Amino acid sequence: MTNRIASPILQPVTLGGLQLKNRIVMAPMTRSRADDNGIQPDYAAEYYAQRAGAGLIVTEATNISAQARGYTRTPGIWNEDQITAWKRVTQAVHQREGKIFLQLWHTGRMSHPDMHDGGLPVAPSAIKPHGQIRVHEGMKDFVTPRALRTDEIPLIVEDYRRGAENAKAAGFDGVEIHSANNYLLEQFIRDSTNVRTDRYGGSLENRLRFPLEVVQAVIDVWGAERVGIRISPVTTTPGETPLDSDTMRTFGTYVAALSNLGLLYVHEIEGVTQQSREEVSDVSFAALRRAFRGAYIANNQYTLDLAEQTLAAGDADLFSIGRPFIANPDLVARLASGAPLAEAPKAYWYGGDSTGYSDWPTMS
Ligand code: PHB
Repeated sequence: MTNRIASPILQPVTLGGLQLKNRIVMAPMTRSRADDNGIQPDYAAEYYAQRAGAGLIVTEATNISAQARGYTRTPGIWNEDQITAWKRVTQAVHQREGKIFLQLWHTGRMSHPDMHDGGLPVAPSAIKPHGQIRVHEGMKDFVTPRALRTDEIPLIVEDYRRGAENAKAAGFDGVEIHSANNYLLEQFIRDSTNVRTDRYGGSLENRLRFPLEVVQAVIDVWGAERVGIRISPVTTTPGETPLDSDTMRTFGTYVAALSNLGLLYVHEIEGVTQQSREEVSDVSFAALRRAFRGAYIANNQYTLDLAEQTLAAGDADLFSIGRPFIANPDLVARLASGAPLAEAPKAYWYGGDSTGYSDWPTMS
């Protein structure tokens, strides 16, 4: 076991005005332990606090409204009871001197009528995703969503604003806007899922309008220096969602606009979400990174070695790690000491209770 305690990745760093313990970010991970009202269980506070060795924690994706929901047992941030439950989480993380951002989510077409009392999920356009989604009774086929009316879109922007305000009331250090993985924001961006003919579809400027209105609303609440965003330009899951017809132009323009708004960071899934880095297409993540002035959080199968090389090359500032945090609450300490990592069986990823969630031991 090699001691890596002196690794530059593990030294304290400043992100905007925030002092972080190190350059490791705990990536957002859906764990599906909330109740049917989107309220986190008490043991979620313990789960997140156990992982406060990360420089920054980004919470699991959190629904900004009832309409935003896609998956069973995912948390919400649209009412007082949800805020109260999240307060327990932020207090526990802060007690361990951690920093935590809430991830703001709307699933759009990645949803099911079972989540909406039989009503249809909403999306930019009525295009059905392929495959299935986890709802209360297990996996069910996606349906064709209902295309949003133009006058409904500003109401969703307001839902994001309220989510951002509620995150503040819950004591978070900032928020991350979920603009990745083919959920609502990305559905507007890609021409494969947005065939609207109003001011929210068609030209690239129109397709970026809604996501940028959301970003502006969240900035109004938090200030740009406490707002990050997550993107995944080449991910096709869920729904077997086709890529945009011009990924580099579309995402290059988006990232440049986000940069001009002064966002704290862009958090990018380099490759296909939950798949290997090898499957990256001809998209240049380095070029997208250079289009952004703020911090860059790189994600996808980073090891300490790869993170050190990437940092030395100036290609990223922080590195987010997902699945290894499931079974290794003290992941950063294990990386520092070179200790072996535990593996979480997939059965524990989604759903269930505190077992396989907040009961993983630290190194002995
Ligand atoms: C999921 O619940 O499977 C999920 C949620 C958010 C993501 C990706 C996957 O960004």
